[in-house]
Amino acid sequence: MKVLFLNGPNLNLLGTREPHLYGHSKLADIEAKVRAKAKELHIEVDFRQSNLEGELVNWIQEAKPLFDAIVLNAAAYTHTSIALRDAITAVAIPTIEIHLSNIHSREEFRHKSIIAPVCQGQICGFGENSYILGLIASVYVKESIKKA
Ligand code: DQA
Repeated sequence: MKVLFLNGPNLNLLGTREPHLYGHSKLADIEAKVRAKAKELHIEVDFRQSNLEGELVNWIQEAKPLFDAIVLNAAAYTHTSIALRDAITAVAIPTIEIHLSNIHSREEFRHKSIIAPVCQGQICGFGENSYILGLIASVYVKESIKKA
């Protein structure tokens, strides 16, 4: 099983960016934790970050047929990007939306996720563990597809 982790804008600044909201871990620390858990679960992981919407769209398009699932922290594009939503719909790879913070307990403009309706589900508010939960969710999604 292969899972593609995609990270959107400003997540390259984790560690120094608003640590009261996003924690003190750098994205590379989170990647290392994801890789350790993935090894335990015998899952192959690719982990990428971009500040560019089009690059994220390209990566989603290219994911088929290479990956079984996408775990996506689209960051601010969550709330704005019809292009990301359309890419997820177009490739039809099960996608799990994740966020470090609980977007529903923050500013009103963060309550709406444009991508949520085309994702399998949403995990938010568990800090860096949202990434681990996203990985585990991708296993369940793959198993439920196999059974169907
Ligand atoms: C975020 C939440 C978004 O609203 C915000 O724009 C981010 C990070 C999170 O992981 O909590 O950049 O996706």
